[in-house]
Amino acid sequence: MKKLLMSVGVVAGLTMGASVAQAAGDAAAGKEVFKECMACHTVEAGKNRVGPSLHGVVGRKAGAIEGFRYSKPMQEKAAGGLEWTPENLKAYLMAPKEVVPGGTMSYAGLKNAPKYKADPDTAVENLIAFLAESK
Ligand code: HEC
Repeated sequence: MKKLLMSVGVVAGLTMGASVAQAAGDAAAGKEVFKECMACHTVEAGKNRVGPSLHGVVGRKAGAIEGFRYSKPMQEKAAGGLEWTPENLKAYLMAPKEVVPGGTMSYAGLKNAPKYKADPDTAVENLIAFLAESK
């Protein structure tokens, strides 16, 4: 009986784990990862630095902040319909130059960040969960 209960618990735990992982990473941990970005970005609406405000960036169209001078390659991607879906964001944050070649975001990507390159996937999931909260 004990064994049966345990296996039910394991199955429930697995299913929950899977849906949580799909829905979002750990936003609190993501806030820590955002330190990688803070030299150039804020998550406050209307507050641009070297990079555009990332307020509400998840689901936003690329190149959409009025008055921010995006690079030509970013403007072209935007005109081509690039949107910051979690998938596209993930690719961009891993390796910005692979998604927007010639773009002006001088950040090597989480894949190359000394602090996160051991497990960039977890870091990027957490970061996106954090960004998704700022809207
Ligand atoms: C050295 C400064 C710098 C750092 C560090 C940096 N960025 Fe950027 N970011 C930029 C610039 C500049 C742009 C505009 C790029 C362009 O126009 O090609 C940009 C663009 C972006 C965009 C596109 C926004 C839009 O409105 O289309 C996203 C998303 C983004 N950065 C996220 C991040 C995240 C998340 C981090 C941290 C992991 C980060 N950036 C680190 C400078 C930086």
